[in-house]
Amino acid sequence: MIKPDGVARGLENEIFKRVENAGLNVEVRQKMSLTAEQAAELYKPHLDKPFYPGLIKFITSGAVVACVVSGESAIGRLRALMGATDPMKAEAGTIRGDLREEIVLSEYGTIKNLVHGSDSPESAEREIAIFFK
Ligand code: RTP
Ligand code: MG
Repeated sequence: MIKPDGVARGLENEIFKRVENAGLNVEVRQKMSLTAEQAAELYKPHLDKPFYPGLIKFITSGAVVACVVSGESAIGRLRALMGATDPMKAEAGTIRGDLREEIVLSEYGTIKNLVHGSDSPESAEREIAIFFK
């Protein structure tokens, strides 16, 4: 998923180019605004984290692009391409490292890091069902 900061900064094509150049396939892409219910479901695993309320505000602050990405070892390769959660720690060559803003903290107190990627086949299945019926 391209998060609201990525959409607002017009980075969709740049991000898709990087994913496709890495040999992964973007099977489905759809721009949408997450409802409060979808956001809560997506970030349910983070419910008890201090950054959770800000994360919900941030992720519903603008349009996102929800995607289904496929390919050999797609989860691990996509997450490597994304880089570390904190863009200040993300390596050069990664989406978060190369495209980060000067200030990576959003007005909601959460990290703006452009993209989200499922971290296991189980979470991919769970998350795709939140976006696509
Ligand atoms: P994601 O789930 O979005 O792909 O990112 P991730 O696995 O790298 O990071 P995760 O630990 O799952 O955290 C989810 C998102 O919450 C925001 N966050 N803010 N300390 C903070 O302010 C903080 N920590 C995490 C980030 O947007 C992160 O991607
Ligand atoms: Mg995560």
